[in-house]
Amino acid sequence: MLEIKVTTTDTPKPKPAGPVQGVGQIFTDHMFLMDYTRGTGWHDPRIVPYCNLSLPPSAMVFHYAQEMFEGMKAYKHPNGTAYLFRPEENAKRLNRTAGRLCIPQIPEADYLQAIRTLVTLDADWISCEPNASLYIRPFLIATEPNLSIGVSTSFLFVVILSPSGLFYMDDLTTLDIWVEEKQVRAVCGGVGDTKTGGNYAASLAAQEKAQSKGYAQVLWLDAIEHRYVEEVGSMNIFFKLDGTIITPALTGSILPGITRDSVMTLCRSWGYPVEERLITIDEVLAAQKNGILEEVFGTGTAAVISPVGKLHVQGEDIIVADGNTGPLSKKLFDTLSGIQRGTVEDTFNWRVKL
Ligand code: COI
Repeated sequence: MLEIKVTTTDTPKPKPAGPVQGVGQIFTDHMFLMDYTRGTGWHDPRIVPYCNLSLPPSAMVFHYAQEMFEGMKAYKHPNGTAYLFRPEENAKRLNRTAGRLCIPQIPEADYLQAIRTLVTLDADWISCEPNASLYIRPFLIATEPNLSIGVSTSFLFVVILSPSGLFYMDDLTTLDIWVEEKQVRAVCGGVGDTKTGGNYAASLAAQEKAQSKGYAQVLWLDAIEHRYVEEVGSMNIFFKLDGTIITPALTGSILPGITRDSVMTLCRSWGYPVEERLITIDEVLAAQKNGILEEVFGTGTAAVISPVGKLHVQGEDIIVADGNTGPLSKKLFDTLSGIQRGTVEDTFNWRVKL
């Protein structure tokens, strides 16, 4: 059990007056910090007013990117009860990523205690408006002042909180997606299946290109053959083909999304055949030509369920079904959001009361 020293702010910030769009634009009053030093382990867990970090310019994170992050949300029922969604799964994924990047792991119980204590302190920032949530951003950075390449001997663990709304849009309108056929995001054996910043830095050039052409996000293909669908910039991807739900298998270069897993579980419980397998972009195109591409949607903590209306691939715009949000996307969005904020029965015990 951590002994967390809490210092509260004397100057609380005003809370957003109305609905918030997107994620990560504004931050709450407090943050959690904990240091790691080789030989001592994790120490000095503390909550302090949200403020700038002070690090030497030689801190290893700035040079060799030994860093990682997580994403989770807290939600509020209209009656004021607050919940976390599958926080233990989030703790497991944090430690899987940490293991891959030689970052010291955080005992699950300590991680959960840190999150719970911080979110409870700033719980007034969780709005119970429809589609509102509090995005939780834990991250770990290498802080040793040293320019040699190696594992840092010191780290900082930080958790910040950001009131958020729907990531992409107001009311489940569809996204247009650019299928990237030249650049790649990740290779098997690399770190594409971890939440580390480098994966996102590597995706920016393609994202900029896509956005300049009017597309919201990039759909990545595999790095070897440029055929197999992997994931979208900030979400996993699903296809509904002739009644079957298909999502790319976790081959090592795809993020094992907790929303992805929840969506597969929900779809199976509703009787849909669900397949985690390799799927080529040609199979998606053929399905569209044959009229069996019924729905495409992305899933993620920030993205929730984001329906896709158009794919730009091989120089053409491919419209998914009639281009509008499909009934399964809508049902998944309503069910998942309802479970998360406590307005829909939680048959899988995913919700954890704050
Ligand atoms: C999340 O959904 O938690 C993510 O990490 C996506 C991020 C790029 C906002």
